[in-house]
Amino acid sequence: MSSDTTTPTGSLQDKVVIVTGGNSGIGEGIVRECAAQGAKVVIDYVGNAEYAAQMVEELGGAERAIAVKADVSKVADLTMLVSIAVETFGRLDVMVNNAGVEFGETLLTLTEEKYDLLMAINLKGATFGTKLAAEQMIKQGDGGVVINVSSTHEDWPMPSDLAYCVSKGGMRMLTRNAGVELGEHGVRVVNIAPGAIDTPINDEDTPAETKALEAAIPLGYIGTPQQMGQLATFVASEAARYITATTIFADGGLMQKPGAV
Ligand SMILES: NC(=O)c1ccc[n+]([C@@H]2O[C@H](COP(=O)([O-])OP(=O)(O)OC[C@H]3O[C@@H](n4cnc5c(N)ncnc54)[C@H](O)[C@@H]3O)[C@@H](O)[C@H]2O)c1
Repeated sequence: MSSDTTTPTGSLQDKVVIVTGGNSGIGEGIVRECAAQGAKVVIDYVGNAEYAAQMVEELGGAERAIAVKADVSKVADLTMLVSIAVETFGRLDVMVNNAGVEFGETLLTLTEEKYDLLMAINLKGATFGTKLAAEQMIKQGDGGVVINVSSTHEDWPMPSDLAYCVSKGGMRMLTRNAGVELGEHGVRVVNIAPGAIDTPINDEDTPAETKALEAAIPLGYIGTPQQMGQLATFVASEAARYITATTIFADGGLMQKPGAV
C-alpha cells in the first residue's frame, strides 16, 4: 500500500481572514474555527491586547496569525487594518465584521451620545468594513466573502434595546444591498444572525434570565461561539458559493417560538 503523503487541507486553507472584535466571544470562535480550517487570521481587537497576543501564539505564531488594534468605528483604523492584513499575508479573502456593542436603552431612555457610539461601532463599522474589504477583493480580481455578524434582532423587535435592533436592522439592508452590488465581482456578502450565544455580551444576565432564555429556546440551550465559528467557516467556504445578499439565522429556533421575548 502506498503511503499518503498529501498535506491535509481545510476548507479555508491559506485563505486570509480578518475578524473584527476577534479576541472574545463569537469573534474568538470564528477566529479559532477559521484557523482550524487552515486560514491565516488577522485578529482585530480594542481591549485585552494580552489575550489577543496569546491567541496568536496558540494559533501558530506570526506565520499563521497576527493581532491588530483597530477601532471599527473609525474608517482610518479600518483602512489600516485591511492594509496590514494585505501587507502581512499578501491578500484578503474573507472579512468578518463581528465587533458590536449593546447598551440596553429603550427609545425613552436613549441618549444621543449612546446612539451615536452604538451606530458607529455596529453599523458604520460593518458598512466601511464591507466597503474596504470589497475594494481590496475587487483589486485582487478573484472574488471574496464578507460575513456580517448581525443578530436575530435584525428582524425581531426588542424594545429594551432599541438602538441595537436598529443597528442590526441596518446590517440586514447593508448585506442585501452590498451583496447585489458586489455580485458581478464575485464578492459574496452574507449575514449570520445568532440567537442567544454564551459570550461576555450577555454577562449581565441574571441566573433567572438565563434560565428563562433556555426555556424559550426550542433546542433547549444557549449556543456557543464555536457553533457560530463553524457557521462562519461554512459561509466563507466554497460549499456556500451560491449564497449571497441574505441572512442565515442560527438561534436554536428561538425566533419562531410564540411569546419568546
Ligand atoms: N452573544 C449573543 O447572544 C449575540 C447574539 C446576536 C448577535 N451577537 C453579535 O455578535 C457580535 C459579537 O458579540 P459577542 O456576543 O461575541 O460579545 P463580545 O462582547 O465578546 O464581543 C464584542 C467584540 O467587539 C469588540 N468591540 C467593541 N467595540 C469595538 C470597536 N469600537 N472596535 C473594534 N472592536 C470592538 C469587543 O472588544 C469584543 O471583542 C456582536 O456584533 C453582537 O451584536 C451576539
